[in-house]
Amino acid sequence: MLNEKVAELLNTQINKEFYSAYLYLAFANYFSDEGLDGFANWYNVQAQEERDHAMLIRQYMQNNDAPITFSAIDQPDTNFKSHMEVLENGLEHERYVTGLINNIYAAAYDVKDFRTMQFLDWFVKEQGEEETNATDLIKKMNLFGSDPKSLYLLDQELAARTYAAPSLVL
Ligand SMILES: [Fe+2]
Repeated sequence: MLNEKVAELLNTQINKEFYSAYLYLAFANYFSDEGLDGFANWYNVQAQEERDHAMLIRQYMQNNDAPITFSAIDQPDTNFKSHMEVLENGLEHERYVTGLINNIYAAAYDVKDFRTMQFLDWFVKEQGEEETNATDLIKKMNLFGSDPKSLYLLDQELAARTYAAPSLVL
């Protein structure tokens, strides 16, 4: 049986991951409106990954007979003033999520819940990759965003991102 606090944090994280998917779909909507379909594709794929994260945590809880409660998903703030602002919001969000994962890990550590810690190891690594990806996008936008031709090429590069199922199998 999962510790009560660990289970509660995992349950909340399901909601946070679905919110992440919602947020990235909002980013994709923005870029689609802006005519940057490659960026929109990149965030659509990102949203699929976030949904996977939610589903993995849900499955883990079910495997451990922990009851799951769904709550309302927050409305993302979509008042973006620039392309860069969206990218920066993305990095900020991933840093926030890293903090959430670390909190669950710490709670599991406190009660010697090694099973949950092992489960979360994948998420810890994943968050490192998410922060790197978000940072790389900002660097590229800084380099190429102000030149229309370069922005077009960057958009094409991001159009090539494809969805891959998560490497973690439960
Ligand atoms: Fe996630």
